[in-house]
Order: sequence, then structure tokens, then C-alpha cells
Amino acid sequence: MTGEAPPGLPEATEPPVAALADPLTRILSLTDFAGLAERTMDRPSFDYIAGGSGEEITLRENVEALRRRRLRSRILVDVTSVDPSTHILGAPLRMPVGIAPMAFGHLAHPSAEPAMARAAGQAGVAFCLSTMSSTPLEEVAGAAPDGAPRWFQLYVHRDRAVSHDLVSRAEAAGYSAIVLTADLPVAGDRERDLRNGLQYPERFGNFTAAEGVAGRPLLEVIGGFNERGLTWRDVAWLRGLTSLPIVIKGVMSGADASRAVRAGAAGVWVSNHGGRQLDRAPASIDVLDEVVRAVGQRTVDGQPVEIYLDGGVRRGADVATALAMGAQAVFVGRPLGLALAVGGEAGVRRGLELLRGELLTTMALMGVTSVDRFRRWMVEP
Ligand code: GLV
Repeated sequence: MTGEAPPGLPEATEPPVAALADPLTRILSLTDFAGLAERTMDRPSFDYIAGGSGEEITLRENVEALRRRRLRSRILVDVTSVDPSTHILGAPLRMPVGIAPMAFGHLAHPSAEPAMARAAGQAGVAFCLSTMSSTPLEEVAGAAPDGAPRWFQLYVHRDRAVSHDLVSRAEAAGYSAIVLTADLPVAGDRERDLRNGLQYPERFGNFTAAEGVAGRPLLEVIGGFNERGLTWRDVAWLRGLTSLPIVIKGVMSGADASRAVRAGAAGVWVSNHGGRQLDRAPASIDVLDEVVRAVGQRTVDGQPVEIYLDGGVRRGADVATALAMGAQAVFVGRPLGLALAVGGEAGVRRGLELLRGELLTTMALMGVTSVDRFRRWMVEP
């Protein structure tokens, strides 16, 4: 816009100086990172992070199903102070958000997982490290020694000794929960990766070539690594390896949520793997009610079982939706992976700051001053 400004207003010709100094300030939503990442990243790396499986129906549905929900509010509530802080598995969080595990962080940025973990620590959100991280789990722990909880995501290897060793290392390095990913007996058909001929990256954090990961197509590595014969019995095996709480990730039905509680899970993580596994699975948000009913007030080791959700969370309104429907916290993966690609650690910090800002606004406009005041009726349908 050019021309004379109305009296009393400055001429609006240039963007504010701050915006020019720091391009990240021009990013106003988590969703803004994707376009920038697509323009700056190499195609196979972008597609690996951004893509899903099959026709990417579930990938899209995760986002759309959250957008279809409507939020209801109470008016004339004093929202001078709005507090989004909470706790997961007994540890405090500044907001009910965590960074979901993502494999091969260096495809996004050379600073990879340590940058993610530092940004999470500063924002006071949880960080869950992938078994398939580019950086060894000890190094990530050292990069962000303090702050919010750090969890370790486990893919169970065909050679159980490999997984046993990983769990012991994670426990020794101070990770405070083991997140068993249960939805990847085989890798989903990621057509973008197949088309791009995505290869196994040269850097691999937690394994050596002897463990069967070197020089193979990426999807073969992810799928070939995993124990296809994993069953509920193995949750007992895992519990026997560690005193850490176990969270089961990939739960998409009330029946499996119930089963997870019976198996001793401290947390049930509703997830369809960000639409990267079973294409045509429903959106995570659309199974949350069923999971919340199944878990009810049940406890494990004297503590209430917690429910988390990932898939499609892009906005503060999405966080509010999942919380009102009964989630204890949500996890965000892909958009923060793309934020890492665009701006390294500062990009992830910016992404989390935007999410927090939106959540605060949403809570104030809903008349919700703390997370325990969310109610199911606040979300339609
Ligand atoms: C790895 O966990 C992936 O989903 O790509």
C-alpha cells in the first residue's frame, strides 16, 4: 500500500525493521514453514518429512478433521491471567505440547535432534527422540541436559539384544519414559520416497552398520529393522527391561487403549504415525473420544493413565480441541521438522512460540484460564 497516510498514522511503505532483520518474525504460523521448506530443501528430504503413505488420505484427514471441529466458549470470564502449563507423567510442562519423534533429523538440518531438544527445553515442552535419530541419544541428552521431559521412542529390533541395549542406554542417559511405537510392523508405502529413490542417510545416530542399516533404501531400513512378530506379550518383556514408564504409541481404537492399560502402559498415545503408515486410517482426533472412554479413570502403578495425541496439530486451536476432548498433551512432528529445516534451532523455537501464542489467545477467547478447565462440551461435534 502506498500513498499518503491518514493524519496521525505513519506512512506504511516498508515492513518493520525487525521483520527485515529476522526473517523468522515474518513466519506467523506453524503452517508457514512448509512453503519455505519446500523452496529451500532438496526434494527427497522435503518429501520424506512432508509426505505420507499411499494416497496421503490420512495425512490430509488428520489436519482436516481437526479443522472441522468447532470451539464453544464461556463469556465474561476474567482472563487477565491464562495459564497453559500442565504436567505429563509427573513432570511439568509450560504448555501441553511435545515434539513427536522424527527419524533422521539431519535430513532437515545439520543441527538435527540436539537443536530440537534445546528448543523444546527452552520452550518447556516435552521432547521425544526417535530410535532412528541422526544423533546418538547420549549426545542429544547432553545437548539439553535440563528442562522439560525427554522421552525415548523405541522401535523393537528383530534382534532383541539391540533393543535391550538401547533401552538401557536411554535410561542411563536420563530419558524419563520409553515410547513403544506399535504401528510399524512394516513400513507404509511412502510413494514420494520410492519415487525419489531415497537412500539410507550416511549419518545414523544409535546404530552401527553391523546392525543392518547401512547402504539400503530408507524404507527398507525402517521396515527391515522392526520386529514384525511384536505382540502385546512383548510389552511385558519391555517392562521387564526397565523401571521407566512405558507409553504405547499408535493406539487407534478403544479396544487397544484398554489393552494397553491392561499391559501396564502409563500412557496411551493416539497416533496414526502422521499418516505415514496405514493410509485410510481415520484421523487421530476422530478416535480420541473412543480412547478416552476406554481409558476412563483407570490407573497404572497408582497413577492415572494419560492420553496423548499427535496428527494434524498445527494451531493453538488444535491443541485446545484435543485437550477439551480429554488429551493430557499433544505432540507435533512434521511442522516442527520443517521449522528445523527452515531455521535450525531458532526455527523450532519460533514454531513453538507461535503455537503458545495461539493457544493463549484461544484459551482467553474460550474463557478457559487453565488446562483443567477445558470441558468436552467446548468442542463440536
Ligand atoms: C520413521 O519413523 C518414519 O515414520 O519415517
